[in-house]
Amino acid sequence: MKKDIRRDRKKEHIEYYLKSTSKNKTLFEDVYIEHISLPELNLDEIDTKTTFLDKIIEYPIMINAITGGTEFSREINRDLSNIAKEYHIPIAVGSQTIALKDKKSHESFKIVRDIVGKEGVVIANLNASASLDEVKYAMDILDADGIQLHLNPAQELVMKEGDRNFKGILDNIQNIVSHMEKPVIIKEVGFGIAKEVAEMLYNVGVKYIDVSGIGGTNFIEIEDRRNDQIDFSDIYCWGIPTALSLIQCRSVSEDIILISSGGIKTSIDIIKSLCIGGDLVGISGEILRLLIEGGYDRADKYIKELMYKFKILVLLTGNKNIEELKKTPYKVKGELKDLL
Ligand SMILES: Cc1cc2nc3c(=O)[nH]c(=O)nc-3n(C[C@H](O)[C@H](O)[C@H](O)COP(=O)(O)O)c2cc1C
Repeated sequence: MKKDIRRDRKKEHIEYYLKSTSKNKTLFEDVYIEHISLPELNLDEIDTKTTFLDKIIEYPIMINAITGGTEFSREINRDLSNIAKEYHIPIAVGSQTIALKDKKSHESFKIVRDIVGKEGVVIANLNASASLDEVKYAMDILDADGIQLHLNPAQELVMKEGDRNFKGILDNIQNIVSHMEKPVIIKEVGFGIAKEVAEMLYNVGVKYIDVSGIGGTNFIEIEDRRNDQIDFSDIYCWGIPTALSLIQCRSVSEDIILISSGGIKTSIDIIKSLCIGGDLVGISGEILRLLIEGGYDRADKYIKELMYKFKILVLLTGNKNIEELKKTPYKVKGELKDLL
């Protein structure tokens, strides 16, 4: 019974994501980066490579956690993996909770590693309340380079069948991080990581945080559409804008690898993310929408053009590589400035 709820939920998340209409701001619009009209650079020499989870990747862009577990999810993971392989960028699978109990679902996740091969970067995904054994099991399925553990209290609380008790999760994270050799990424699912939370995570040994702020996929709205008992539309605005979360988490330490996600759509979002503290960006909703509405070629074209425009913008900031780009000065204005 539970298994069926999970399978249906995976499908409904995609269906309701595509129908969602709420619009929160990432606040990247309040970040200002200077244009350099004398860059003294040749586009051919712009190097967008970076290292992530001990492997070299072609661009600081990853396809973030979306799905797995059903035949439909398998098709999505197959297409996204082909894009990840083509452009040599990392890819994370959606929550593998279903795979802990149902071996038949493994293929829909494993296909990602099968397609990207040994040199690709593949990231496992579970809830942060998972046990150490479950984390190892989920990683083994994919021969994963790292695992994302998601924090999603806002989503769970709006979900009719969701969790209501969030005690003990920090201790659990500490235990997992201290026993794992491979990197453990703690991520939100679209409500942002506060500075205070980043400090708590950093103090228990977490070195990778994906801020996943508001401005993109909104799981309060998605779960609200699945929940016919209570109307949650008045709290669709809840959460921390991605740009704010990023700046605040970066202020905790230079020693954290920060992933900027939540509403990343354009090359401007990527350039700004890297200038204000991100090491790379994660995209879920936008690529999923293009894949489902426009097919593989549309999603592939989006990523190809996104990367080309990103490369152009690196040059226009006067930088020739990612390390230089991350040191670019920036200014903040408006709402973002007020909130900082
Ligand atoms: C349909 C869908 C399913 C998702 N499932 C998961 C999941 O299983 N695990 C997870 O950590 N995040 C999941 N996410 C959240 C994304 O990884 C990401 O944190 C969030 O969507 C914000 O990024 P975006 O605005 O680019 O979509 C999902 C997102 C979407 C759109």
